[in-house]
Amino acid sequence: MTTSRIAFIGAGNMAKAIISGLLAEGYPDAQISAAGPRMETLNKVAQEFGIAVSTDNAATAARADVVVLAVKPQMLKEVALALRASLTHKPLIISVAAGITTASIANWLGENQSIVRCMPNTPSQLRAGASGVYANKFVSDAQKSTASAILGAVGIVQWLDDETLLNPVTAVSGSGPAYFFLLMEAMIDAGVELGLTRECAAELTVQTALGAAMLARESEYDVAELRRRVTSPKGTTEQAILSFEQDNLRASVLKAMQACSNRAVELSELLGK
Ligand SMILES: NC(=O)c1ccc[n+]([C@@H]2O[C@H](COP(=O)([O-])OP(=O)(O)OC[C@H]3O[C@@H](n4cnc5c(N)ncnc54)[C@H](OP(=O)(O)O)[C@@H]3O)[C@@H](O)[C@H]2O)c1
Repeated sequence: MTTSRIAFIGAGNMAKAIISGLLAEGYPDAQISAAGPRMETLNKVAQEFGIAVSTDNAATAARADVVVLAVKPQMLKEVALALRASLTHKPLIISVAAGITTASIANWLGENQSIVRCMPNTPSQLRAGASGVYANKFVSDAQKSTASAILGAVGIVQWLDDETLLNPVTAVSGSGPAYFFLLMEAMIDAGVELGLTRECAAELTVQTALGAAMLARESEYDVAELRRRVTSPKGTTEQAILSFEQDNLRASVLKAMQACSNRAVELSELLGK
């Protein structure tokens, strides 16, 4: 992996997840720094990771080859406008802020900046994330490789050649963990209804979700075939699947994900002003 100097602007959950992933992959701590408004947060980060920290966003960004914008979306405009003057050396900018377009970021930071926009998800905290990533036209192939290496430290990376596809990515992987949590909640409640203790139902449900995801990831078969293989004719699973299909589970999932993607578009327009 490249050893560019990486500056994190914002040292919260997502920044810490990426820093932790980079260090686990052997990235030199001396090449990583982080900036934020409160020394209390920064001291904890410095202690945990052994990296340089500062309350001066601009000075931190000015020294970096890669600047990762890891503040809350509603903070990004203010933070980016204040960084503008310190980015004349044209570092690679990586934004993990949900919903904010590269055009909005370029508006605030200055034109001709190389900007990569990433939509990560919460399992990044366990290095099991899934990110959709888009690069604007100023990002070189070498910078794309750098971004892949940095974001790949917390999970898989899917490059997109159309920025609007980050809205469906939000509907699939960005918000996706919550759908699985909801299904697990419903399965645990149903297990209790059928007579199991809550603890037993929860243990079995979570392990089943993990095992199913691992099978889906590792198997030579796609998920439809995996489902068919556990659904014997006239067997128990078939009864459950038939019930889901009769209740239009697929249509319900599509409707939910369309609503999610539409909301991503609305929020993007709102936050990008
Ligand atoms: N967490 C996830 O799994 C996840 C998933 C998808 C997308 N994202 C995106 O990642 C970004 C960060 O999310 P997060 O979960 O990491 O949030 P977070 O834990 O709240 O972290 C945000 C950080 O920004 C810092 N900050 C606030 N004002 C700042 C300023 N003016 N300059 C520099 N830093 C400032 C905060 O510092 P203090 O703590 O000192 O206030 C905090 O450490 C968001 O844009 C979000 O959309 C996160």
